[in-house]
Amino acid sequence: MDWTRALTAAEAEYAERHAGSRAAMARMAAWMPGGDTRSTTWFHPFPVVMDHADGAEMTDVDGNVLLDFLGNYTALVHGHRPPFILDAIRDALERDVLFGAPMPEQGELARRIVERLASAERVRFTNSGTEAGMVAARIARHFTGRERLAVAEHSYHGSYEPLVWEAAARTGTATFPVNDVAGAQRALDGAGPLAAVFLEPVLSSGGVITADDGFLAFLRDYTRESGSLLVFDEVMTFRLGYGGRQEATGVAPDLTMLGKIIGGGMPVGAVAGRADVLAVTDPSRPGSLEHSGTFNGHRLTMVAGAASLDALDGPAVERLNRLGGRLRDGLCAVAAASRVPVSVTSCGSLLNLHAAPGVTTPAQADEAARSDLARYIHLALIDRGVFIAHRGELCISTAMTEETADRAVAAVADALAEAERLEGLA
Ligand SMILES: Cc1ncc(COP(=O)(O)O)c(C=O)c1O
Repeated sequence: MDWTRALTAAEAEYAERHAGSRAAMARMAAWMPGGDTRSTTWFHPFPVVMDHADGAEMTDVDGNVLLDFLGNYTALVHGHRPPFILDAIRDALERDVLFGAPMPEQGELARRIVERLASAERVRFTNSGTEAGMVAARIARHFTGRERLAVAEHSYHGSYEPLVWEAAARTGTATFPVNDVAGAQRALDGAGPLAAVFLEPVLSSGGVITADDGFLAFLRDYTRESGSLLVFDEVMTFRLGYGGRQEATGVAPDLTMLGKIIGGGMPVGAVAGRADVLAVTDPSRPGSLEHSGTFNGHRLTMVAGAASLDALDGPAVERLNRLGGRLRDGLCAVAAASRVPVSVTSCGSLLNLHAAPGVTTPAQADEAARSDLARYIHLALIDRGVFIAHRGELCISTAMTEETADRAVAAVADALAEAERLEGLA
C-alpha cells in the first residue's frame, strides 16, 4: 500500500490553504538555506509559517487556525502567551534583564528545580537542551577522568555531535539498545571505561517509547559498579511528573539534563544533579571546569521558567497526564476501528501516533515516521486544523481541555476515513 492518492490529495489541499506560507518560505530562502533555521521544523512540501497564537490555538500567515499539539516540541507546557508568564516577563523588563554578573532570579529557578527533582542538589544553566548535553558530557569527563560516552540507539539529546547516536561510528560514542538488558550489557562491556551513559527515560523523538523500570535499574547498577555516571535527559520528560519522569521510576541518575518547560518559552537548558559532581564547575575551586555563556541565566528565562514551574504544580501535572490518557484512549479507539494501519504509544502528556500497527520499539517508530502514510497523516491533520510533529508526536498543554483532546481525535478519525475512501479501503 503506497498511499499515493491520499498523500497527493492532502498535499494539494495543504498547498491551496497555505499559499502565504509557501511565498514566505520562498522569500526567506534568499537569506537562509531552505528558508528555515531549524531542521526539525521543515517538512515537505514547505512548512506552515506562523503569525500569532494564544492558548492552544495558533494562526498562520494565511489565517488558518491550528490547535497546537506540538507545543514547540513540548516546550510550551502552558500553551501560548499564558498571562502569568507575560506578567513575569513584563516585570523583569522594567528592571532590565542582562548583566555580566549573577542575579537572584537564577537562584530562584535553581531552587525550584532542586526542590522538585529528588536527584538534584545543584544546577547549572545553559541556553538550550543541546548545550545541557555538552556541559553534562564535559562534567562527566572531568569528574571521572574518562573520555568515552554512551547513548541509546534512536535517542535524541540535541545537536552536539558526540551525543548524536547516528554519528557514533565517527565520534567514538558507544550506542546501546533500549529495553534490552543483555544487548545493552554487551554493548557497554565492549565500549570500555565510560565517562557517562545518557538516556531519555522516555525516548521522545524515538517515538515516545518508555524505558522500562527493569532497564533503568540495570543501567543504574551498571554505571555505579563500573564507575561511570548515569545521565537522564529529561528535557522533554520533566513535565511527566512533579519530580520529572524519574519520580515514577524510582531510579536516581547522577546528572539530569533539563530544558524546554523550565524556561517558560524562553531559550533554556540546565544540568542538575549530585552536589559532588556539579562541584567540578564551582568557579571558587582551583582547577574547576570552565563553564560560561554570555546568556546563561538570562533574567527573562529565569522569571518565565519560575512562573512556568509554579503553574505546573502536582494537580496541573496530573491533569495534563489525565488529558493525555483521554487523547490516547480516543486515538487507540480510532486506530482499532480503522483499516489504515496506525498505532499509538504514550506516557502521560506525551504521545506518538505511528503510521504502522503495533509499534513498540524506537526502530519501528523510526521506520513508520519515514513513510508516506506518516506524511499523509501529518498534512491531513494540518488540513483539519490540528498541528502535530511530522514524526507523529503530540503533547498536551495546560491551555487544553477535554474538548481540545476530543477535537484531535475527531480530526484523526476524519483523516483516516478520508484515506480509506481515497485508497479504496472503505
Ligand atoms: C530529549 C531532548 N534532549 C535534548 C534536546 C535538545 O534541546 P534544544 O532543542 O533546546 O537544544 C531535545 C530537543 O528537542 C530533546 O527532545
